[in-house]
Amino acid sequence: MRMLHFIKSLKESTDNREIYQDKLKFAKNELEPVMSEATIKYHYDGLAAKYSERYNKGEGDADFNYGGAVLHNLFFSNLAPPRAANKPEGNSKILIDDVYGSFDKFKEEVEKEFMAAQGSNWIYMDTSGALHTIHNHEYKKTMKIALLIDAWEHAWALDYQQDKAKYLNNIWRIINWEVVDIRLQGA
Ligand SMILES: [Fe+2]
Repeated sequence: MRMLHFIKSLKESTDNREIYQDKLKFAKNELEPVMSEATIKYHYDGLAAKYSERYNKGEGDADFNYGGAVLHNLFFSNLAPPRAANKPEGNSKILIDDVYGSFDKFKEEVEKEFMAAQGSNWIYMDTSGALHTIHNHEYKKTMKIALLIDAWEHAWALDYQQDKAKYLNNIWRIINWEVVDIRLQGA
């Protein structure tokens, strides 16, 4: 059954191996108050887990499920429990200062990209520091994602209702810059 998908859909994003949801590196309530335990349960357990399951079973659209699985793994792994004055320190600071001048300017640019994105999207910084929007689950292996933010409503509406900007403003407190730094190594 799964082979049929590969024959029908030999896009770059698909892979002939199974894909699995990465385990969280934090407890489901540890991102509070930025991201509630209810949102993690709904988003990680309820939604994200299904993409790898469906992909491995050959159910639904293979590209959509594969992209959803990869993107959610990248997203949840670049989050960490909130820290006071959380900001880039290592490779990410060097890159962001070089490309944007400062972390504050970088956040302004992310906000422009984030607020301009309509519908269901992701915002990411690639390993050169450039910002991009991914529509839906349109992941490509060539994207070289260093930092990824889920901008789909399911990531924030439970906690922030209609206030998408507040979600973005708060998410800086839970970005795991050490993971971003590792993704930038050798980039
Ligand atoms: Fe999501």
